[in-house]
Amino acid sequence: QCIALIGAPVEVGTSEPGALMGPAALRTAGLVRTLRDLGHAVEDRGDVAPEALPPGATGLPAVAAWAKALSAEVEAALAAGTVPLAAGGDHSLSLGSVDGAMRHCARTGQPLMVLWLDAHADFNTPETSPSGNVHGMPLAALCGEPGFSGLFRQPAPPPLDPRRVHLFGLRSVDAGERALVRARQVGVTDMRAIDEFGVVAPLRRVLEQAATAGAHLHVSLDIDFLDPSVAPAVGTAVPGGATFREAHLIMEMLHDCGLVRSLDVVELNPFLDERGRSARVLVELVASLFGRRILDRTASPLETL
Ligand code: ARG
Ligand code: MN
Ligand code: MN
Ligand code: MN
Repeated sequence: QCIALIGAPVEVGTSEPGALMGPAALRTAGLVRTLRDLGHAVEDRGDVAPEALPPGATGLPAVAAWAKALSAEVEAALAAGTVPLAAGGDHSLSLGSVDGAMRHCARTGQPLMVLWLDAHADFNTPETSPSGNVHGMPLAALCGEPGFSGLFRQPAPPPLDPRRVHLFGLRSVDAGERALVRARQVGVTDMRAIDEFGVVAPLRRVLEQAATAGAHLHVSLDIDFLDPSVAPAVGTAVPGGATFREAHLIMEMLHDCGLVRSLDVVELNPFLDERGRSARVLVELVASLFGRRILDRTASPLETL
């Protein structure tokens, strides 16, 4: 596999500064070397730069400039047959990465499915958002909710089908987005479900749906999906998140399913980290997603029992 690493040092989608150091911290933690050691070709394309972004610009116009630049990079990486890995940066960058994947899929005719590993739904609109932070809104914008204009390159592909989005690890939802997530029939595996059933059964269902559809699976990993005790470098920490082992198991299943075509790693805030520990955890998780395993084995433990 050839992986295209695309840094997106964007933090205009959040009010907590520091996420712009995310791509640098992931590189420092050995992201490229780790993937190469697994036998992959890795092309580090450096960091994207938004066109004509006036210094100090904030809000939707600033986010849009980043999203457009990243969308073009991701679309090109996919067209070249590589797997784009967008390293953030706050979660507003997924406006660009998912948009790039949508354009690629519109061309190939492959349906797009999005797995959103996150404590939050990120389904606010400018209307419903209690904070005004755009990193809490990307899914609503991608799914065509009103209130967003000028975010995407034109002409824009048809919006993402919310029923092909799956929120996994959800445990913090604002009142307005709660209603939207329900109304739009977004797929959800919340922490309650994970507590009851574990991660395997719900994720298997999602992956079976993706396999049946022959989908391009885009994975968006928000560091706050993890419990803050595992990854403290996070601006919007919510207790009760995924454990280290749950997260690795998910990554291993994602690797084994063979459907992941594009990936975001977002919301790492190195300013809040403890001696690089969260950045290292993310690199280890990415390694599991790209095929690192404890021992060589061909079947899952259940199948070999
Ligand atoms: N729901 C909150 C908001 O809209 C928090 C969003 C957090 N999003 C994130 N990508 N960390 O402000
Ligand atoms: Mn493809
Ligand atoms: Mn998020
Ligand atoms: Mn989040």
